[in-house]
Formats: sequence, C-alpha cells, structure tokens
Amino acid sequence: MATALCPGSFDPVTLGHLDIIERTARHFDTVIVAVIRNPQKAQSLFSLEERQQMLKEATAHLDNIQIEFFKGLLVDFARDHGANAIVKGLRAISDFDYELQMAQMNQRLSGIDTFFISTSPQHSFLSSSLVREVARFGGDVTSMVPPHVADRLGEMFPPKDKSQLGDSTEKDH
Ligand code: PNS
Repeated sequence: MATALCPGSFDPVTLGHLDIIERTARHFDTVIVAVIRNPQKAQSLFSLEERQQMLKEATAHLDNIQIEFFKGLLVDFARDHGANAIVKGLRAISDFDYELQMAQMNQRLSGIDTFFISTSPQHSFLSSSLVREVARFGGDVTSMVPPHVADRLGEMFPPKDKSQLGDSTEKDH
C-alpha cells in the first residue's frame, strides 16, 4: 500500500490545494493531508478544527483521503504513518528554491522522497495568504476556494457594499 503525504497549513484550503490532493489521490492508495499544528505563521485565520472540517468537506468525494494534524518534523509524522512519499504542488519558479531545500532536507533526514506536481495553470497564482487578504477586504474569492470555504470567508468578511465605496464612474458623470 503506497501512502502519500500532502502537508501544509491549509489556512484555508484553496482550489489549488484541492487540485494537488485530487491528482495525488489518483496515484497513491492513501493520501494523508497533514495539517501542521505549529505553523511558523503566527496569525492563523482559521482554527485547526475549522481547517480540518473545510478539508473534510472539500475532499468528501474522494475515498482514499485522511485528514490528520501533525507537529514537529514532517519526516517523523511520515515514519509514524508509514508514508512512502511527500507530494507538493509547484506553482512557479519562486516556489522551487524553498521546496527543493525542504525536499533535500527531508531526504537527508529520513530517506523519504518528495514528488512535485505542477500546479494547474488556472491555479498558479493562488495561495491561502492571498485568498485571506482578498477576502479580508471584501473581494470575491468564489473562483479560488471550494464553495463552503467561500461561504465561511463571506461570513467572516461580508462583501463590501459597493454603494458605500463611492463609485467614481457615477461621481464623474
Ligand atoms: O502550507 P505551508 O505553510 O507552505 O506548509 C509548509 C509545511 C507545513 C509543509 C512545512 O513548513 C513543513 O513541512 N513543516 C514541518 C516542519 C519540518 O519538518 N521542517 C523541516 C522541513 S525541511
């Protein structure tokens, strides 16, 4: 049984993440989506439980997915769960330096290999941090995250009422 890990913060899960998880699920018997418990990023928008719930809903159509939390080293989690590989999405060359460094470190620490999947072009600009920023300022993220995540973001940050923003086209008439 081949098991892959898709690790990350998933704060929140985006359609880019989902694309990588779905494609990984086609190649491995089991995919463990590993949500980090101790992100470097101090300010998380969603709690761990909310992130887990959103991931569960987003992957409900797949039957070989587990959602788990981890803290500490990813390679220790991989060993404890019998994972054979780490799978990451690569969006652009800007991802490559850091991802290569992490892949080589993880390989050195435990012998585990990291496989990279090229992000689908329609998602190549997407990141959780940009989604959070756009949503925070009332922008439309419905094409970037699963519907239930967009709903959740919409509840947290209601869309701006454009009539109150002062529409310059109207003013300039
Ligand atoms: O979604 P993110 O925040 O880009 O995910 C980063 C993550 C969680 C994959 C990475 O920070 C990680 O693997 N952290 C675990 C700690 C660890 O094992 N560090 C050494 C890796 S070289």
